[in-house]
Amino acid sequence: MTFQIKSIEQYHSVYQKSVEDPEGFWAEIASDFIWKKPWDTVLDWDFNHYKVKWFGGGKLNITESCLDRHALHKPNQPAIIWEANDPHEDSVTLTYKVLYERVCRFSNVLKKNGIGKGDRVCIYMPMIPELAIALLACARVGAIHSVVFGGFSAQSIADRINDSECKMVITTDGAQRGAKSIPMKETVDDALTSCPSVKKVIVATRTRNPVSMIKGRDVWWEEEIKHVTMDCPAEEMDAEDPLFILYTSGSTGKPKGVVHTCGGYMVYSTYTFQNVFQYHPGDVYFCTADIGWITGHSYIVYGPLASGAITMMFEGVPTYPDAGRFWDIIDKHKVNTFYTAPTAIRSLMGFGDEYLEGKDLSSLKVLGSVGEPINEEAWNWYNEKIGKFNCPIADTWWQTETGGIMISPIANITKTKPSFATLPLPGVQPILVDDQGEEIVGNGVNGNLCIKFPWPGIIRTTWGDHKRCQDTYFSIYKGLYFTGDGCQRDEDGYYKITGRVDDVINVSGHRIGTAEVENAINMHTGVVESAVVGYPHDIKGQGIYAYVICEEPPSDIHISKQDILMTVARIIGPIAKPDQIQFVTGLPKTRSGKIMRRVLRKVACNELDTLGDVSTLLNPEIVAELIEGKLKLD
Ligand code: PRX
Repeated sequence: MTFQIKSIEQYHSVYQKSVEDPEGFWAEIASDFIWKKPWDTVLDWDFNHYKVKWFGGGKLNITESCLDRHALHKPNQPAIIWEANDPHEDSVTLTYKVLYERVCRFSNVLKKNGIGKGDRVCIYMPMIPELAIALLACARVGAIHSVVFGGFSAQSIADRINDSECKMVITTDGAQRGAKSIPMKETVDDALTSCPSVKKVIVATRTRNPVSMIKGRDVWWEEEIKHVTMDCPAEEMDAEDPLFILYTSGSTGKPKGVVHTCGGYMVYSTYTFQNVFQYHPGDVYFCTADIGWITGHSYIVYGPLASGAITMMFEGVPTYPDAGRFWDIIDKHKVNTFYTAPTAIRSLMGFGDEYLEGKDLSSLKVLGSVGEPINEEAWNWYNEKIGKFNCPIADTWWQTETGGIMISPIANITKTKPSFATLPLPGVQPILVDDQGEEIVGNGVNGNLCIKFPWPGIIRTTWGDHKRCQDTYFSIYKGLYFTGDGCQRDEDGYYKITGRVDDVINVSGHRIGTAEVENAINMHTGVVESAVVGYPHDIKGQGIYAYVICEEPPSDIHISKQDILMTVARIIGPIAKPDQIQFVTGLPKTRSGKIMRRVLRKVACNELDTLGDVSTLLNPEIVAELIEGKLKLD
């Protein structure tokens, strides 16, 4: 852990250096990784006509930093400890040597099935070790992985496969999540009826429920690995070659394929992992995220493995077989670092403290939080009941697009403050601006959070549409990367993220675009128009509130709502199902025909005192109907 910061004084001086000499700063850190050829230039960038290049001319393969070097120096140290959904099933430990061998073997399977450098591979799998192996094998042969979270529908998988023209899908026969059995292959089969680019499907066995296997297209993982060797040299990649695509929702249109590249992402995810969590060799680190999201990519797979850490993978859910499951896992594996989401903390807090009884959590040293603002009550419970006032909480703010943690306490070094992400990490230059893009200076202020200088993990492009990347992130405020988040900087210069300022809802730490949900609802038969907003939800952080206009008033409101939920689940996935549906006869519109979302938000949030002036609406009379309908829902 050569570049770990060890004191707050050192943090300030390292931060200073990272601003004054960013190239020198990052070059020193990058030299701690395995490169096949050193870079020619550290950084080349322009935020106005967006381009960023880190470590230009450098050649590498990220798996050599994640696997080869550790397989050589500490072959028998655990790399991945896997805990099954069923607590009675044995956990599995893969040492660095075994992981290296399995990745090499599966890399040869990919090659044998026609996958090479630059090809896109869609991965739709539950949290089993084969998922991590699949990611790393893609990286080893130079293929670009696109992981789709297991909660997405066939339609969403198809959209993602088609957007990046994936040649292959890697999946499982089924999955087990809590008491539920999930048909993974069946969903992939449905998706593939409209994906002409996919030539091969590799199916790993997990549940061994019957699945259809199409001759010439579908093959079993276990069969394929029998016919290849485990010798697979790593493909030489340019630092700026794409490593992966990960789709994420925004204010408009379909989800965007965020592209991260090999060199900068490796350096950034690893540097931040080692610093934020102050990882010590031999520590057991448990991040509860799913690898279907960026947190799993950066802080279950790449950052920890490049650091030679012991990283856990958990297949199940926090409430199965009961709400003490996380605490059982911490006790069983003597976990030292625990990284989870506020929604999980709030939900487990709600089950009561009896699930903590008899659980030995004394191995814990550091706690982390990610994905959404953590409210003070949840922060305090986490601090007291889990950390026993003895573990710093790293409230880590970042995004799919940032590749790694941006604003966060450094464990045991930065003084924490409930619900504050505190200070930027070295190399991160945040700036608050008003709606006109003017910088808001000083402390004790609020504004839109932007970043004014590139860091190695920054998004490079949105797959197939660079203009969309430019327009979404770099055009709203000139010369700045715009995060989409509102932010407070308090008197101490500490940052507190207050939530999205665009039309994105954060449901249980998952980003959902209101436009996407509206499009799905509008596909439901009889629906004329809909509008979706977020509202505060005790467990999920935000819930989805949908106002729906139908051609005819629904005869059975309950059934109609259930039908709409089914349509949304089919089109996007169960995670996008609205929590509340209100049937209305109209939506508040401005004279130019735009929906006045502010009014919809205020009604959904029960903030009726601050509705503001509605007299300029084309149809001001609708507001009374909205309020009356809302009160009936409550
Ligand atoms: O609104 C912020 C919120 O999650 C968004 C990013 O979502 P996603 O790309 O899915 O990545 C989630 C995991 C990194 C941000 O724009 N967010 C993330 N972390 C925090 C947060 N909001 C407040 N505090 C955080 N610690």
